[in-house]
Amino acid sequence: MPASTHNTAANPWPDRRLLLRGKALQRLSCVLGLVLLAGECLADGDLTTGFSNQATIRNTRHNLTQRQATGGPAGVIMDTYRNDYGQVCVYCHTPHGSNASVAAPLWNRSIPSTTYNVYSSNSLTQTPSQPGSASLICLSCHDGQQAVDAVMNMPGSGRYNATPSPGFLSTWSNPSGLGPFAHLGLNEAECLGCHSPGQTPIYKVGAADFTIAAIGTDLRDDHPVGVKFPAANGNGTDWKTPGGSVTGAKFFDENGNGRMEKGEIRLYDYGGGPSVECGSCHDPHGVATVGTIFNATFLRKPNSGSAVCLTCHSK
Ligand code: HEC
Ligand code: HEC
Ligand code: HEC
Ligand code: HEC
Ligand code: HEC
Repeated sequence: MPASTHNTAANPWPDRRLLLRGKALQRLSCVLGLVLLAGECLADGDLTTGFSNQATIRNTRHNLTQRQATGGPAGVIMDTYRNDYGQVCVYCHTPHGSNASVAAPLWNRSIPSTTYNVYSSNSLTQTPSQPGSASLICLSCHDGQQAVDAVMNMPGSGRYNATPSPGFLSTWSNPSGLGPFAHLGLNEAECLGCHSPGQTPIYKVGAADFTIAAIGTDLRDDHPVGVKFPAANGNGTDWKTPGGSVTGAKFFDENGNGRMEKGEIRLYDYGGGPSVECGSCHDPHGVATVGTIFNATFLRKPNSGSAVCLTCHSK
């Protein structure tokens, strides 16, 4: 059973007075300069994301402990819909007891067997297969089938479960003292219940629109993944040639140093030949562009002038 199953459908946030009070306190503390982290004052309203997207994954949307509106409604609301493990990495990685069935570093999430609807078109030269590991790990949240906090090894002793159920996840206590009453996934009925346009109740206002991040299991409207890179590449073909090679991957070695770096577009090879997967174009920790701000949407390099696309495609 998917771990995203609700424990209850009722919403625990009818009390708008409490929420408004939190919001007012946050604003007041910003005005008085009581909040030392200036970002928390800037976060409200003037940016499309409350995160600075600088320096570390902790400042990105992949920090699922997010409580950027400390003391305000957002921190508290998030605590009722997902476990706040107080650690950024643990939503994806664990130092022990990781999922060895998937080719991903120390992976802390189960990969339920799912059949995806794959991209097809009459002009493809390769036949997309089911997504490979470097896509399945992203889809373990982005297909919306599992709760985002569904990890196999929660922090602390004796908190391991290879197939984390809502009951197991609910044994966690949030530091705020509010136990999650449901563990939500990134899909229309769950996280998107607040994080989609047109939501009017006060406890939903201000929630960023995540509709496009809820990729689901139908990949026909997404750039193909699990698709081999054409063997015929180089001058005179539709394809550039990945010059770099390491065990299990080929990469476009833009600085020619022979190392596969996070800013370089890559192809994953699980034995069937180099393939495009989510990780080909994205690094989920963020990659700094010129300056310190990460490339938008976790891209390995900026896509200005379609630079990401033109790394592989010769058009
Ligand atoms: C009851 C409504 C509600 C639900 C359900 C909800 N959120 Fe939120 N969330 C909010 C609100 C409101 C904010 C805006 C907070 C702010 O920016 O201070 C927010 C902010 C966020 C942010 C920060 C966005 C940004 O860029 O500033 C992330 C990430 C997030 N939520 C993830 C999730 C995930 C993942 C789920 C499902 C597990 C979820 N939320 C479920 C109401 C909700
Ligand atoms: C949202 C999920 C997610 C979070 C959170 C996350 N990682 Fe990762 N991490 C990944 C994925 C996916 C890969 C594999 C990337 C690939 O295939 O190219 C990875 C790979 C790595 C690697 C291998 C080298 C590399 O960069 O590919 C290291 C080391 C690593 N992560 C450390 C961390 C640390 C430390 C944290 C917390 C500060 C963290 N990660 C948080 C998803 C995550
Ligand atoms: C632990 C769950 C989890 C995993 C694993 C995960 N993500 Fe996410 N990701 C999220 C959540 C939650 C958001 C917030 C939704 C949003 O920002 O639209 C998000 C947001 C994003 C965004 C939008 C960022 C922005 O600022 O708009 C991108 C791009 C993304 N993820 C790509 C990936 C890729 C690629 C992988 C695999 C390498 C991955 N994610 C793995 C949970 C996850
Ligand atoms: C061939 C390159 C490529 C591959 C493969 C790829 N993406 Fe992306 N992705 C992009 C680009 C480019 C963008 C930015 C689109 C934009 O700016 O509108 C993006 C945007 C996103 C976003 C943010 C959408 C938005 O507009 O906020 C998410 C989430 C995401 N990708 C997840 C994934 C996941 C999960 C996979 C694997 C199933 C994947 N991507 C595979 C290139 C790719
Ligand atoms: C990592 C290499 C890589 C990157 C980066 C990349 N692609 Fe692709 N793309 C492929 C491969 C491989 C295929 C499958 C080609 C085939 O089967 O003939 C493909 C397929 C496509 C298709 C479908 C072609 C068809 O015949 O139906 C389109 C359109 C496309 N890519 C556009 C883009 C765009 C736009 C970007 C940038 C956002 C991009 N690609 C980035 C490798 C890449």
